[in-house]
Amino acid sequence: MKAHAIRRLWQRLEDSLDFIFPGGSNPLRNLGAIACLMFAILLLSGIYLYAVFDTSVQGAWQSVDALSRDQPFVGGWLRSMHRYAADGFMISTILHLVREWILGHHSRFRRMTWLTGIPLLAFMYVSGIGGFWLNWDRLGQYAAVASAELLDALPLMATSLSRNFLSAEAVGDRLFSLLVFVHLGVPLLLLFGLWFHLQRITRPKILPPRSLLIGLLTSLGILALALPVISGPPADLSRAATTLPLDWILLHLLPLADLLSARPTWILIAAIFAVLFAVAMRPASVALPVAVVDADNCNGCRRCVEDCPYSAITLEDHPNGKRGQQIAVVAAERCASCGICAGACPSATPFRSVIELVNGIDMPQQSVDTLRRSLLDTLAAAKTPQIIAFGCEHGLDVEHLGEADVTGYNLLCIGLLPPSFIEYALRAGAAGVIISGCAEGACEFRLGNTWTAQRLRGEREPHLRRNVASTDYRVVFAGHRERSMLTKAINDLRSNAATGIHP
Ligand code: HEM
Ligand code: SF4
Ligand code: SF4
Repeated sequence: MKAHAIRRLWQRLEDSLDFIFPGGSNPLRNLGAIACLMFAILLLSGIYLYAVFDTSVQGAWQSVDALSRDQPFVGGWLRSMHRYAADGFMISTILHLVREWILGHHSRFRRMTWLTGIPLLAFMYVSGIGGFWLNWDRLGQYAAVASAELLDALPLMATSLSRNFLSAEAVGDRLFSLLVFVHLGVPLLLLFGLWFHLQRITRPKILPPRSLLIGLLTSLGILALALPVISGPPADLSRAATTLPLDWILLHLLPLADLLSARPTWILIAAIFAVLFAVAMRPASVALPVAVVDADNCNGCRRCVEDCPYSAITLEDHPNGKRGQQIAVVAAERCASCGICAGACPSATPFRSVIELVNGIDMPQQSVDTLRRSLLDTLAAAKTPQIIAFGCEHGLDVEHLGEADVTGYNLLCIGLLPPSFIEYALRAGAAGVIISGCAEGACEFRLGNTWTAQRLRGEREPHLRRNVASTDYRVVFAGHRERSMLTKAINDLRSNAATGIHP
């Protein structure tokens, strides 16, 4: 199956889930945030578990087992939350990776975010497997011996690591302290790595929307109560582990290594990491146009800096040399070519009486001047009153609706639209205006529909002036399966115009 067919299939799946999870709470659109939530639960519950954990070989099993037996509703529940959050972390991170891959989010301006995500995978596996060692029950014994055998296949240490597990006497408190150290240190590395991962993302969503958050916490909490995690019999190195209640979500690598043997498993792991790396380094076939700043029209107001979803803009001293005056500067390799900055700039207002509407920051392939000219030409030439639909290339197509009374513009992102264009279109004779963007939480450039909604509500600059009647425009943030919302909005504007609600 071709890459674009897989992408379309995934998008359909996401769009379908919007019906079950409305208002931006679709889990598939929040996988990074879900992974962060799971990680936060792991850290918080981990603090408690560490406080009661006995780090000696003799005491480890006892201290963990006592949690489930002696205090099932506090310690036992937290222990179960810890385990299920680890499962949730693994699932959401793998799905997050798969989603970003399928949607082609691995190269260009996302390259750094992708590359910094790769080590997180390794940290996640080490932390996940390492957690089982500390229980020091039969499953922990299996996890420790199997990981040691796997590590022995690497030319890391002069002596064999698995020799440490040949007999009970060989496992000393020092070795056990090392295991504890790994299980504490690697999640801290993960936390640090996560900070790097999110460096190029403005206002990353690190928590899911409230309804999803409550749903996930409640489900995990109930699961931890209904199916509490309990220890198996204590580790006994004189007996080989036989049938074990394996957590396949966290431990699948170990039976795989048993099946393939250690060396082929490492070759497979190295190949997966190499592919993840290579996919990001492949040069793009077509270069994306980069936002261009016009020195004469930039007053250093900072709005574009605030609104850019990929931290691509900084302010520097203005070349005009005036003291204290600054200018926006775009880092080409970070620019997503979304045009959200153009929609944020105060010079984008079409009411300016200039022949050419030069914006402080603009997109070479879709400038606000071209938009204004095209809008004026359309409205002047139209035989019937036109509804103007401003849409987004990634959302519902508004350019080919096939309606004689609707003229549409598929913008790079709906965030490119300066809100004053709505008033301008109405004053120039439009029968109504549609503002259409991707479904909530689904913006291809993360923040386009959020900023647009805030600008229209007057909560963000540049805002839509209050003298624009709310009956004159409709906002439609809809996925590809919600076309009926667009049709309804158009019909509403038609009937408003027919009944004279439109001025
Ligand atoms: C520890 C596991 C991880 C966590 C907690 C995590 C978390 C996040 C979060 C919170 C975001 C921002 C989402 C937003 O605001 O739109 C994000 C974005 C992203 N992540 Fe991860 N991530 C993890 C692992 C990975 C991995 C393994 C990869 C791929 C190798 C990856 C690739 C990406 C990409 C490409 C984006 C940018 C998405 C965009 O620009 O729309 N992440 N991640
Ligand atoms: S087009 Fe503008 S808002 Fe979008 S990434 Fe580039 S600089 Fe940032
Ligand atoms: S929004 Fe416009 S005027 Fe303000 S800093 Fe950016 S380019 Fe300059």
